[in-house]
Amino acid sequence: MKKLLVLALPAALALALNSTAFADGAGVYGDNCAKCHGDDGKGATKMGTKLGCKDYSDATVQAAITDDQAFKSVKEGLKKDDKTLMKPSELSDDDIKASIAYLRTLKK
Ligand code: HEC
Repeated sequence: MKKLLVLALPAALALALNSTAFADGAGVYGDNCAKCHGDDGKGATKMGTKLGCKDYSDATVQAAITDDQAFKSVKEGLKKDDKTLMKPSELSDDDIKASIAYLRTLKK
């Protein structure tokens, strides 16, 4: 029994570390952002067009926003006048960072 525990513990720990320290940016983005921003970051989806998503494959658009600003907008939500563009995210800080890092890779 004791031996089993010794074997199981590091495995569980490795799994836990894996899911927090290395959040899967592409997966998080695909599940939570792509419906508006698009798989390619261009925002040409139905929702994206309706809400006015910018083209994040465009280097100029990417350069106009810092990582800190991007993080804040995703975490706290983004409004324009009375219109909600993005709701405050329920994702963990690590997942938000990972999804933004992934968005950065969509720059052409
Ligand atoms: C309901 C649609 C929707 C979803 C879902 C969504 N966004 Fe947005 N997002 C927008 C709109 C609309 C804007 C404002 C126009 C723009 O910058 O593209 C925006 C803006 C942004 C900005 C720029 C913020 C700023 O301060 O200018 C970033 C970065 C961003 N989104 C990243 C994300 C990430 C990462 C996710 C997923 C975790 C996500 N968005 C999910 C609609 C959405």
